[in-house]
Amino acid sequence: MDKTYLLTPGPTPVPPETLLEMARPVIHHRENEFRTLLGQCREGLRYLFQTRRDVLVLASSGTGAMEAAVTNFLRRGDKALYVNGGKFGERWGKILTAYGCQGVEVPVAWGQAVDPEEVRRALDADPGIRAVYVQATETSTAVRHPVGALAAITRERADVLLVVDGITAVGVFDLPMDALGIDVLLTASQKALMLPPGLAFIAWSEKAEGFLEAADLPRFYFDLATEREKQADNQTAWTPAVTLIVGLRDVLGRIREETLAGVFRRTAKLAGATRAGVLALGLRLFAPDHPSDACTAACMPDGIDGREVMKILRERFGVIVAGGQDQAQGKILRIAHMGTVDDIQVITAITTLEYALRKVGHPARLGSGVRAVLEFLGASSARFIVE
Ligand SMILES: Cc1ncc(COP(=O)(O)O)c(C=O)c1O
Repeated sequence: MDKTYLLTPGPTPVPPETLLEMARPVIHHRENEFRTLLGQCREGLRYLFQTRRDVLVLASSGTGAMEAAVTNFLRRGDKALYVNGGKFGERWGKILTAYGCQGVEVPVAWGQAVDPEEVRRALDADPGIRAVYVQATETSTAVRHPVGALAAITRERADVLLVVDGITAVGVFDLPMDALGIDVLLTASQKALMLPPGLAFIAWSEKAEGFLEAADLPRFYFDLATEREKQADNQTAWTPAVTLIVGLRDVLGRIREETLAGVFRRTAKLAGATRAGVLALGLRLFAPDHPSDACTAACMPDGIDGREVMKILRERFGVIVAGGQDQAQGKILRIAHMGTVDDIQVITAITTLEYALRKVGHPARLGSGVRAVLEFLGASSARFIVE
């Protein structure tokens, strides 16, 4: 198999040692070995989510946890505000509609972050709204929404929950669930947790308990009350994704060892280096004002189709990045820097991007991108000395 470099905002590369852990024979989920395993993971997940409460492990992709965050906390016909600044914000609206809730959309231009004051005004104008649904990172645009400021608004309201999709945020940047007062926080395995896709995680606050009790939307597989009861006993309601949970223990151990603060620092440094490289190549950032440290979205120059650039990256170097979706198709490239990323990954991304851009006629100066990356890394870690 040809060597590839997976630089997409999910899935992200899995550490080789974790892959080896997952290559062990499958264990049975009703045996004590599994109970011990899940117990260790539950402890590690509390650290990751920065909560004292339980974090549940679900066998699904991230969207399963998004759906659970609707069906377990709302009632038929409930009104819920959702921030729609990209594909994943839009998904909140679709889930709400699918379950017969009334979605109150706060539209946000792609590439921009939501203005918390707009959310405050919408809540003031309609006391019937019971929850605010938002992404911490809107991965389709690489924007970071101001979750702290939104939490300050919902914290003042006993009857409004803040539900945060942290799928490309938990383990990327500081998002302390308890300290901020996030009511529901969820994530998935294939992003900063550096695992294959297939696990989702969800936790909720004391304040959300009343909402959970009152919720009457149809649900079965993702019944969080049932699941919590089981997981409190280190069991799961249904057959768990045992192999992925074995990998989970390993990656949570790695995060502990590096410490969350260390992970956030490394990720922020690599995000900064990527942005510096992109700008030095003469490209604009799609989210210049509120960029997330999860991934960088680079605008393609006029007349250049990002899909052509992606093709060169893939065929010439085995470098896989993500393109834009919907209105951003062909217009942006998204390069990830979360999970098990290091300096070399960013250097690879920017160097090969420079090559591909020159191939399609963009006049980037040879070495300009990598120079900016090395200067940035040199300045922030002193690991590289640039003459
Ligand atoms: C912010 C965000 N929300 C939701 C999803 C959807 O998750 P999944 O594809 O795992 O269902 C993604 C996936 O990229 C995401 O980045």
